[in-house]
Amino acid sequence: MKKSKLTISKDYKIAKIDNRIYGSFIEHLGRAVYGGIYEPGHPEADENGFRKDVISLIKNIDVPVVRYPGGNFVSGYNWEDGVGPVENRPRRLELAWSTTEPNTFGTNEFMKWCKEANTAPMMAVNLGTRGPDDARNLLEYCNIEKGSYYSDLRRSHGVEKPHNIKLWCLGNEMDGDWQMGHKTAVEYGRIANETAKIMKYMDPSVELVLCGSSNSYMKTFGDYEKTALEMSYDKVDYISLHQYFNNSDNDSKNFLAKSMELEEYIKTVICICDFIKGKRHTKHEINLSVDEWNVWYHSHGAKFDRWSEAPHILEDVYNFEDALLVGLILIAMLRHSDRVKVACLAQLVNVIAPIMTENGGKAWAQTIYWPYMHASKYGRGYALNGVLETTKHDTKGFSDVTDIDSIAVWNDEGEELTVFAVNRDFEEDNILSVNLKDFDGYKPVEQIVLEGFDIKAENTVNNGSVKPLSKPLDNVYESVKEIKLSPLSWNVIRFKK
Ligand code: AHR
Repeated sequence: MKKSKLTISKDYKIAKIDNRIYGSFIEHLGRAVYGGIYEPGHPEADENGFRKDVISLIKNIDVPVVRYPGGNFVSGYNWEDGVGPVENRPRRLELAWSTTEPNTFGTNEFMKWCKEANTAPMMAVNLGTRGPDDARNLLEYCNIEKGSYYSDLRRSHGVEKPHNIKLWCLGNEMDGDWQMGHKTAVEYGRIANETAKIMKYMDPSVELVLCGSSNSYMKTFGDYEKTALEMSYDKVDYISLHQYFNNSDNDSKNFLAKSMELEEYIKTVICICDFIKGKRHTKHEINLSVDEWNVWYHSHGAKFDRWSEAPHILEDVYNFEDALLVGLILIAMLRHSDRVKVACLAQLVNVIAPIMTENGGKAWAQTIYWPYMHASKYGRGYALNGVLETTKHDTKGFSDVTDIDSIAVWNDEGEELTVFAVNRDFEEDNILSVNLKDFDGYKPVEQIVLEGFDIKAENTVNNGSVKPLSKPLDNVYESVKEIKLSPLSWNVIRFKK
């Protein structure tokens, strides 16, 4: 049995967590929209065609923001195709994913769905095949009340009030040569700056996300961020990071250390932002939007018919170790919540997603749904930089990997304190002593765990056995609380005043 110690104080604040760190993503890709959130005729569909069973699973997580409509899709998207009378909307060949896009769901449907799902939009503009002109037109359509061409067009489409979308992405993964309209850092920096300028002329209240690298292994990583930011620094508010993780070589010990890779990535991007800030002697600070992250590899190589509509693509079936890594990534992002203000688990339904559906059938929670739900539910308030003393190990790709990783979140309004912890040791229990320095009167109430499953155990439509269990913590504790963390476990330890 191993031992660890976590010391927490209200004084150890990292930041007030921006709830948008629990965001997600819906792209026009595979069955994310069609057969996922939208399926007219489904027994659970409401009068808009929105699946109520899916909405209820989403509401249970409490997703504050959803990025839309892509992803690679947005770089070839004509937003006008998705508004106005449905019978007039064109069917298009969708070149990012080699499918056919029926356009029966578009901007106004998405905005209506956001209301139903109790979430806010994070809208991406197409800076691939299109540019600043289309971005400003879409913004006018969405955010201007009336009296201009596009605002009146929206009203003629039956949407009287503006959508008032606050958060916008300036394109998607423009550094990647697979991207339609891929751009060098200089080409992108220029167009992003001009688009940002025009969008802020139209609506100064919008917040804009500049594309960073598609992942930290891109050859241009670092330089792309620096160049694009140097050309647009004053006009943008966030820079994006995307990272997907895999266990293709089936080295689970190494896989569970990969949250460290994301942390290095985050630290490097913060340095780049602050380097430019320092050079410019400006007060303006750029924050981070990790607007695509997840495990993604199980579905690689899946076959589908080219130009089919809503095929089964990127439908990763997640296992227990994936859920542990998702928990570790959430902990890593919370540790940097002073700068990571937005993050999107990619994606939300069917496509590399915590929620799966059958066309015409059931909806269910994948393994990764649970840590995501716990973090969103209990991880609101102040992230605390606790002092963690724990044993360590090495893996193939990482040194000094802590056996326990952990973060504490203090919800001052609800007088609740939650410790999220993962024991990534394969064999041994770890007894975590939680030393609450100045949390007088806080008592442990519950330990929620995901533990005891085969590392490759999955949930399927009729078997949701990988799910959390709540253990009461009703022992009498003094100032030091000792909590057993089982080998390979995700733990949510809740204290209440
Ligand atoms: O989320 C799936 C895809 O991954 C997105 O379309 C793209 O932005 C990224 O490469």
